[in-house]
Amino acid sequence: MVGLGPKQPPSRKGSMHEVPQDLLGPIQDFEKAFTVDKSKLKEIVNHFVKELEKGLTVEGGNIPMNVTWVMGFPDGHEEGTYLALDMGGTNLRVCEITLTKEKGAFDITQSKYKMPDELRTGTAEELWEYIADCLQQFIETHHQEKNIAKIPLGFTFSYPATQEYVDHGILQRWTKGFDIDGVEGKDVVPPLEEILKKRGLPIKVAALINDTTGTLIASAYTDDAMKIGCIFGTGVNAAYMENVGSVPKLAHMNLPADMPVAINCEYGAFDNEHIVLPLTKYDEIIDRDSPRPGQQAFEKMTAGLYLGEIFRLALVDLIDSHPGLIFKNQDVSKLRKPYLLDASFLANIEEDPFENLSNTLDLFKSELNIQTTEAERVLARRLSELIGTRAARLSACGVAAICTKKNIDSCHVGADGSVFTKYPHFKARGAKALQEILDWPANVTDRVDILAAEDGSGVGAALIAALTLKRVKAGNLAGIRNMDDMKTLL
Ligand code: BGC
Repeated sequence: MVGLGPKQPPSRKGSMHEVPQDLLGPIQDFEKAFTVDKSKLKEIVNHFVKELEKGLTVEGGNIPMNVTWVMGFPDGHEEGTYLALDMGGTNLRVCEITLTKEKGAFDITQSKYKMPDELRTGTAEELWEYIADCLQQFIETHHQEKNIAKIPLGFTFSYPATQEYVDHGILQRWTKGFDIDGVEGKDVVPPLEEILKKRGLPIKVAALINDTTGTLIASAYTDDAMKIGCIFGTGVNAAYMENVGSVPKLAHMNLPADMPVAINCEYGAFDNEHIVLPLTKYDEIIDRDSPRPGQQAFEKMTAGLYLGEIFRLALVDLIDSHPGLIFKNQDVSKLRKPYLLDASFLANIEEDPFENLSNTLDLFKSELNIQTTEAERVLARRLSELIGTRAARLSACGVAAICTKKNIDSCHVGADGSVFTKYPHFKARGAKALQEILDWPANVTDRVDILAAEDGSGVGAALIAALTLKRVKAGNLAGIRNMDDMKTLL
């Protein structure tokens, strides 16, 4: 595929003359710390491929490579009505999806509920009660009729889970800043089903789904070239289809070697040992002060949850190491609050269209109560570009590693998540990195094309529930815990 390719992001390097000499040094230090050149990208991808392979073995490695029991792509003719529950990082969404006869078509009704921040670090009971409240409210609003038949639910639970069965998942560890006691190491489906039963809700979990697997399946529903589903959002991760024969940790099950199975990589955990990733001192602080130090090394350098914090830590470091150099005589106490800034702060700076960066002036004033000089704003802009560019280039390494491992020369990648959809130039920067890593000719930037995905945690979850029931009907029981139970949904 040779295309015109995405427009290259504009660089403001030309505006460096506006920066006084004393800020040039710190800017150069940031450039050195955050720039990941082509040879480093290739080194990262080489290591990444080995780690993906290791994750598929019995011994395992850092990257869990979770077997999802999603056994193949939809053919576009799936049918039926399903509920989808999406427990993402920020919102909880309930959808009812009817897959219609027409190939690739569906109807959707949905409600979104803001997840209270306290839930992230609350108790397991509060979490399940909250989820049940949302489901109950949804059912009461949309199903006033009595005696409705059991509705199959696709539960998108976007955290690493070991799945021995498709409707089962033991939480390996919380990610994305969640820290709810008593859930890690346990199957998350029984407590949900218990509370649904207690409330008399006619819902049964047909499949536990990761958002990446949902994205992969939803995107493949309408595009046969889709080979990978990615999330670049609060967290990062990808899923792709493997053959059972290439998954040594499944060998004991004696399944047909050519049977497809989706693998949820959980590659946010790539390089937890810090062998190859170019960590800065800010990445080290983020890891040290996080609820799970030593975990999710790759995610902590690339995901939306951390970009604002990296930026904040870099500015605080400059304030402390060069007193009076920036924000002279300003009260910087707000800037000292961990996680005060999110990725949208950097995105807004990068999008500031004004030559004197007047939107950035307003942002610093309103969010941080800091009055900036133009030179300080130029520094903030460059720092945002560096952090955003590093995130995009490192993110491309995960995609390149899967393509390399699977010998994929050309494909579509379905992507979702706030960083992909909202962060300026993320796609173009990632495409440029893919070109460097995979040695494409200069005029090719889309051989592996990362495209906005279909709704993975809604439509994808419904499709996975449909695919699961379809194969129960056909007698393919790999990864089905209780056939009789599943049959109540047919
Ligand atoms: C989770 C993954 C998820 C990703 C994107 C990570 O923190 O561990 O399961 O797919 O975030 O939401």
